[in-house]
Amino acid sequence: MGFFFAVILLPILVLCPPVEAAKCPRMCNCDSSKLTVACVGKNLTDIPSTVDEITLKLDLKNNNLQVLPRGAFLHTPYLTHLNLQSCNIVKVKEGAFRTLGRLVSLNLAHNKIDILYQESFDGLSSLKELNLDNNRVEEIQPGAFTQLGFLNMLALTHNQLVYIPNMAFQGLHNIKWLRLSHNSLNNLAPEAFTGLFTLSRLSLDHNELEHQQEDITSLPGQAQQLPEVTHLDMSHNPMTYLGEDSISMAKLTHLYLDHMSLQDLSDQALGHAPLLSHLDLSYNQLRYLEPLSGPTQLTSLNLTGNPIYCNCFMRPLREWARVGGVKLLGSCVGPPHLSDELLETMTALGLRCRPGETLKEESEENDEQPGNTPPTVKPQHKVKCPVNCDCDVSFSQHATCEGRGHTKVPRGFPTVTQLLDLRSNHFHYIPKNSFPGTSKVVSVHLEFCKIREIESGAFRGMKNLFYLYLSDNDLTSLDPEAFVGLPELTYLHLEGNRLIQFPGSALAAIPNLFVLHLERNAISKLEPTGLLSSVTPSLRELYLTNNTISSIAKDALDSALLGVLHLDSNQLTEVPTQALSKAANLEEINLSHNSIRWVGPYAFQSVSQSLKRLNMDKMDMEQMSRDALAGLGAGLRALTVRGNKLQEVPDLSLLTGLEVVDLQDNPLLCDCPLLPLRRWMENVNLEVVATCSSPPELKGQKVRDIHVFKSCPETGSPPQTEKTKPKPSLKKTPAVRAASAKPKVKKEKDR
Ligand SMILES: *[C@@H]1O[C@H](CO)[C@@H](O)[C@H](O)[C@H]1NC(C)=O
Ligand SMILES: *[C@@H]1O[C@H](CO)[C@@H](O)[C@H](O)[C@H]1NC(C)=O
Ligand SMILES: *[C@@H]1O[C@H](CO)[C@@H](O)[C@H](O)[C@H]1NC(C)=O
Ligand SMILES: *[C@@H]1O[C@H](CO)[C@@H](O)[C@H](O)[C@H]1NC(C)=O
Repeated sequence: MGFFFAVILLPILVLCPPVEAAKCPRMCNCDSSKLTVACVGKNLTDIPSTVDEITLKLDLKNNNLQVLPRGAFLHTPYLTHLNLQSCNIVKVKEGAFRTLGRLVSLNLAHNKIDILYQESFDGLSSLKELNLDNNRVEEIQPGAFTQLGFLNMLALTHNQLVYIPNMAFQGLHNIKWLRLSHNSLNNLAPEAFTGLFTLSRLSLDHNELEHQQEDITSLPGQAQQLPEVTHLDMSHNPMTYLGEDSISMAKLTHLYLDHMSLQDLSDQALGHAPLLSHLDLSYNQLRYLEPLSGPTQLTSLNLTGNPIYCNCFMRPLREWARVGGVKLLGSCVGPPHLSDELLETMTALGLRCRPGETLKEESEENDEQPGNTPPTVKPQHKVKCPVNCDCDVSFSQHATCEGRGHTKVPRGFPTVTQLLDLRSNHFHYIPKNSFPGTSKVVSVHLEFCKIREIESGAFRGMKNLFYLYLSDNDLTSLDPEAFVGLPELTYLHLEGNRLIQFPGSALAAIPNLFVLHLERNAISKLEPTGLLSSVTPSLRELYLTNNTISSIAKDALDSALLGVLHLDSNQLTEVPTQALSKAANLEEINLSHNSIRWVGPYAFQSVSQSLKRLNMDKMDMEQMSRDALAGLGAGLRALTVRGNKLQEVPDLSLLTGLEVVDLQDNPLLCDCPLLPLRRWMENVNLEVVATCSSPPELKGQKVRDIHVFKSCPETGSPPQTEKTKPKPSLKKTPAVRAASAKPKVKKEKDR
């Protein structure tokens, strides 16, 4: 048997005297009773060859291995746990792990692996967990996983997968959880998930899946491929529509379809998900929803963050939910007297329509896929359609004239048309009444049409228009009457134009505006005349990314309903604290890529009850007041201050609800003022990357790994300099001087 070392690993490795032992490689720490070897953060370029053969756990995190050659672990055949996280690995040669038949857990996260070869994981016949998160995987070769018959969990999140080929996961006979979140998947081969008979959780969230009506193959769950799946997460994919039987999974209980772009959902979409109990449809673009056929056990249906219009269209759903005991989450955006009413408290009788406000019969008749119910209602006959356009009246009710060189908006679309796609033509100018006979149209695409001017009343008569896309045109201003006659318009896209002012007066004509996109324009200030509360009182999301905004008037953002505000990539020099003072529902604000050097005390106080996400990356920020985040508490979920010039970070310990924190790329000064941060990092269950840049001897080290803090006074940080403009150097208060004086040895808190 090996040696028993005199020195047991201390929590603080730095204090550890060099271990003398034949079988413990230099640079490593060994624990012979636990048969553990750790060689962490040593910039090793090879796997140490003197690791004792009997080792069970080998931790090589944070080294510089680059390539794992064939048979790399020949000398340690008994390993059960192998950690190769953050080792700069670009390539795993075939057969690299061939001798590791007892390995249970393999961590390859945070490397630079781009291809998973056919034999990359050969020999890992006992492996249960394989972590490949945060690599650059873009290709999975056929047979990559065939030897992993015992694998339970495969994590491939934060990679660069675009496509999953047929049978990619063949051989995973015991897989329970497959995690493919945060890739760029936009295509799944029809047999991509074939053979995963034991899979119970599938995570496909944060990808680019964009399901089209015709192309049902981009959704998993066809033809009962995944018989045991109970949890499916497809959130944060840009899908706009789910057709009949989109998701067929006999055992599915939890389905996450939130934060997609769903504009419609067939009532048959979940026709083959009989056991579904939780359906999350929050943050989509649904205006109403029909009762869903299929699920009989549904207990909760989440419609939070959808622009649900509470009129008689919603009555069937409300009744169905009441009878079936389904809890409806979410609230109405209109009509005005019901704005913000909870769906759960609405009664069927309260859901009324004005005389003349008709039900959308046509969408009910035509939601069926072809081939199922014969289109008895509408006999097929010659369709009228403008020259150089295609119109479909029987199935999708779409008309498209995309990129056909039109110079005038064509006329004479079928009256049943619901979507009009006119993008990439050369209209230059949209005269008044350009869309006669299109009162059923819900969505109009006019992107890339070189439009310079829109005459007053151009869209008049489009009384069901809900989405209007005017992105990437040449608009420099908007006629105040450009949008009159659009009572239902909810989503307006004006990004990529040349607007020099917030188009307040034109917006005042749109009573139901919910989401407004103004990214990539030339707006330089937000003036009180654009006052949100008076011109667009119903607005919830405002995107102003990449303008030239340098000032915001103090009343400009007054809005009781505004929830999302993106002001990133502008020219702000301070947090618009005062302008936010009446934005009491703000949940997300992005201030990244401005030039805000100092964030003063109580900067977000007025939105502290509602704010969930705060982004302040790359702002050249040099200092945050110790009270910059004062008032914020458990509600804040995400805070990012990446790529600034911060030497210190305020105390985060009251932000107990944080799920994401990004402090990377700041020149942190690793001294006592940072102690609260270090303490906090030790106590939270979050991966927080923070690196010291000074004092020089600590440059490049992780805040987590250094130990100067043990000499700091117990009470934490000395007061930092306040109120004054940022100072690159830390002013030495008595407490700091005391702290940087020679360390008194303190009892380290054991973990
Ligand atoms: C790690 O080693 C490589 C080459 O072996 C060297 O270029 C690099 O500077 C080293 N990095 C550190 C942080 O020591
Ligand atoms: C409903 O969705 C919102 C937003 O995604 C979420 O915060 C909330 O927790 C969900 N509620 C339930 C019961 O799932
Ligand atoms: C801002 O817009 C310009 C022009 O469209 C583009 O070149 C630039 O990359 C954009 N910047 C950001 C940060 O999106
Ligand atoms: C915030 O803005 C930055 C810079 O434009 C962008 O990279 C980032 O994705 C945005 N974050 C969120 C959450 O919108």
